[in-house]
Amino acid sequence: MKKPTLVNHPPDVAPPPGNQPVIAPIYQSVKFEFESIDDTLRMLRGETPGYFYMRASNPTTRQLELTLASLQGRDDCLATASGVNAIAQALIALTRAGDHVLCFIETYGPTRNIIRRLLARFGVEHTMLSVEDLAGVENVLASRPTRLVLFESPTNPVTKVADVGRLVELAHRHGALAVMDNTFAGFHQHGEFDVDVFVHSLTKYASGTGDVMGGAVIARQELIDGMRPDFSVLGALLDPHAAFLIQRGLKTYFVRYSAQTANAQKVAEFLEAHPAVSRCHYPGLPSHPHFALARKQMKEAGTVVSFDLRDGSEAARRFSESLKLFALTASLGSTESLVMPPQLVGGRDFTPEQARQSGVGPGTVRLSIGLEDVDDLIADIGQALN
Ligand SMILES: Cc1ncc(COP(=O)(O)O)c(C=O)c1O
Repeated sequence: MKKPTLVNHPPDVAPPPGNQPVIAPIYQSVKFEFESIDDTLRMLRGETPGYFYMRASNPTTRQLELTLASLQGRDDCLATASGVNAIAQALIALTRAGDHVLCFIETYGPTRNIIRRLLARFGVEHTMLSVEDLAGVENVLASRPTRLVLFESPTNPVTKVADVGRLVELAHRHGALAVMDNTFAGFHQHGEFDVDVFVHSLTKYASGTGDVMGGAVIARQELIDGMRPDFSVLGALLDPHAAFLIQRGLKTYFVRYSAQTANAQKVAEFLEAHPAVSRCHYPGLPSHPHFALARKQMKEAGTVVSFDLRDGSEAARRFSESLKLFALTASLGSTESLVMPPQLVGGRDFTPEQARQSGVGPGTVRLSIGLEDVDDLIADIGQALN
């Protein structure tokens, strides 16, 4: 073998049987070969297990998919390049021209854009209500055939708690699928409800370190099997290197989520008592309008704490810029704390009535509470409020 050949066919160093790595390797390979055409065809027809081309599947990504499906309590999962991509591909795969979908004012902004701009171009219509308007949900579902109801809980940014059981029941009674973006609550929550399709951003709690993007669609087998061909041709399977990092992040998911939630509770209690704050939105506070519902349907209230400053948007801007330990940026769920005054960067597509229903005011600030010492976080918030 000459050297240019050698570098393209390096020696095989796979560990022998009985000598396995403790951590699964990253299968950083686009192609997987078989010995024969017949073996290849058998695998492609689904008669034997295996891998062929990374756009369809890869063992590293598959390991993460199976972990996430088990965590959320469903049969299977499709991992994608980002959370928004998971939502877009799921909506494309689940709808066709002439369908109607129901979504909410409190839905994550880019998701609303997918529905209002992208799906609309392909003839999918929508209705948008407030997630608190259950009578409206019932009326809409009774008045026209609806393919799916897409909701979140707690919502972004003011942590409204959607009545998951009631929304699922209404959707099913009227023949619609219940699709839930469960990013805020996480994989260990809401699995007991009969939600048909869960979508998640893995960019948040799954990786936990804010250095990798990903998304997931988790559902029963028949729904995943129905969506898989569209996902394959749309071509945004999560890269194995990102899948490896997210799988690694999941090892500390439960301790991170609980420790950050405990920090968030203390921050929320501090904010609620501060004279500069007119209202603190956190589902773990008894003053939250959906506190009882949150206690009933959530194990942990999460790590996002929002609040309204009495002095409005200029105060929100100055507060956010005065924090030292909180990065002024998007996203949530990672170990470092973040701050964002949402009305200064989004929500401009609302009518005045929708803006009112969204619950976001001029002085609203969203915090994502991390894993720092909570006394340091509270001291930082205190100095910024002062
Ligand atoms: C509720 C929710 N869903 C989806 C996403 C999108 O996830 P990604 O940033 O991974 O595309 C976000 C991001 O902030 C989110 O907050």
